[in-house]
Amino acid sequence: MTTLFTRDKLKAYLRNERSESRSIGLVPTMGALHPGHLSLVEKAFRENDRVVVSIFVNPTQFNNPEDLEKYPKNLETDLEILGLYKSKLVVFAPTVSEIYPEQVAAVDYDFNGLDKVMEGAYRAGHFEGVATIVETLLRLVAPDRAYFGEKDYQQLQIIKKVVVDKQLDVTICPCPIVREPNGLAMSSRNERLPKRLRDEAKLIFEVLQTAKLQFGTESADKVIKWVHKTFRKYADFKLEYFTIAHAETLKPVIRKRKNQKYRAFIAVYVQDVRLIDNLALN
Ligand code: PAF
Repeated sequence: MTTLFTRDKLKAYLRNERSESRSIGLVPTMGALHPGHLSLVEKAFRENDRVVVSIFVNPTQFNNPEDLEKYPKNLETDLEILGLYKSKLVVFAPTVSEIYPEQVAAVDYDFNGLDKVMEGAYRAGHFEGVATIVETLLRLVAPDRAYFGEKDYQQLQIIKKVVVDKQLDVTICPCPIVREPNGLAMSSRNERLPKRLRDEAKLIFEVLQTAKLQFGTESADKVIKWVHKTFRKYADFKLEYFTIAHAETLKPVIRKRKNQKYRAFIAVYVQDVRLIDNLALN
């Protein structure tokens, strides 16, 4: 495994791999790697000759400076984990000034409303920051394929749009959510939960599963009311949003229609740790 810290070194590495006609998969991460990330890396290895894993805690996607401060960072441990993959993997771990040489700021995008709901509604500017770093990485690495987890489903939809709008020549590969044995979606933030709450946070997935069952026979409105009522019973959990939305447009469902794909999305504070999850409903 090679670790590169600068754009120039990465470009030189890629030039060499390309000259040997090797395909490249990109797995963008913010580090604090867990089995969810490794499932992306594994998939990338199955589908490409070489895999670039970027590790960069991107400041422009944090709307809350405290959240950025608290975000788990441990490059040494991440490199140890990725060391398992040996020579076929390169880690790109740039500094902030390497990525943002002039100004640490996000670019403006028009996401055609995809950013106006859920995460975008609660985290102003978040998706501009995500799109800025992802576009930068896609242009720099020019991978054949790039891998993103469905846990950040809204992010995935937005990235797909950026790729189309900017005519980037890459296949975006969605990867299923990886869960802890109790059902909690894997996230770097889970590390910040005390053991008791990490166990109890299984509630989030349980609620999603029950909502899915209910949505088979009930209206979205009824299911949403039930979810809010359920969370009011748990003092350590504060529901930020629960939405049932169209799986592609992300528009909240008003009336269910046949042949449409719907998904439930949830954001919950477990004490001060914010967790998100989602589930396909049909
Ligand atoms: O999903 C993440 O970890 C980040 O949003 C990403 C895609 C690596 C961009 O910083």
